[in-house]
Amino acid sequence: MKKSITIVANWKMMPANLSEAKVLFEKTKKAAKKYSSLSVVVCPPAVFLGALKSGGQKGYFLGAQNMSGEKEGAYTGEVSSSMLKSLGVSYVIVGHSERRAMGETDAAISQKLRRALLEDLSPILCIGERSRDKDGNFFEAVKQQLERSLADVPAKLAGKLLIAYEPLWAIGEFSKGAITPRDLHEMIIFIRKTLVNLYGRKAISVPILYGGSVDDANAPLFIKEADAAGLLVGRTSWNALSFENLLRFLAKK
Ligand code: PGA
Repeated sequence: MKKSITIVANWKMMPANLSEAKVLFEKTKKAAKKYSSLSVVVCPPAVFLGALKSGGQKGYFLGAQNMSGEKEGAYTGEVSSSMLKSLGVSYVIVGHSERRAMGETDAAISQKLRRALLEDLSPILCIGERSRDKDGNFFEAVKQQLERSLADVPAKLAGKLLIAYEPLWAIGEFSKGAITPRDLHEMIIFIRKTLVNLYGRKAISVPILYGGSVDDANAPLFIKEADAAGLLVGRTSWNALSFENLLRFLAKK
């Protein structure tokens, strides 16, 4: 049986207001319905989550971009895992590089992953090197990030975990652009090996996604040639038409 492919739309701090968010969400939902062989996870800003409903549509899910590692209490401005659950959220991005750049540590990320898994949410752990060197030291950097981020996550909790490999140099409008499918394939094998060392056979089923300058043209290559289990999409998901194109290209055999 063909494994299902997960496409995560990371809206970041977009769009500007709730009415635009509703429009984008409904258009994206309609597009996802046409290509229901794909799992589509939409991650809007937290303030919009309560107003957007996936309505139980097959293969269409709501995700958050971040959450607190604490269960409850005096944490001004934070959002807990149970609050997300109560709004129908089933996925949460954890440790995105834009949050790490604001000071999020591996230890905090590990605590968040644990909390999400205990709450039965599927956390999408983001990892990736800042830059690449000729000697391949970046592999070690990715390994360390992975091991540290998963320090609080024992194998028995890892069932709903997803990994998103997002090299920093490939993310956003000022980046060098996406990775090549060949380099991605190599990194996916490396991440899988690291996970197997941590979790044994259980790690074989952990989906490894790719993110960084994904568009409709390169998306199918990452799935077919690099064997990514899915994609984490920033800019291309902010426009309903571009995102629909991406889904269509992916759904094509
Ligand atoms: P991008 O962002 O697709 O706009 O490069 C990806 C991400 O940061 O998740």
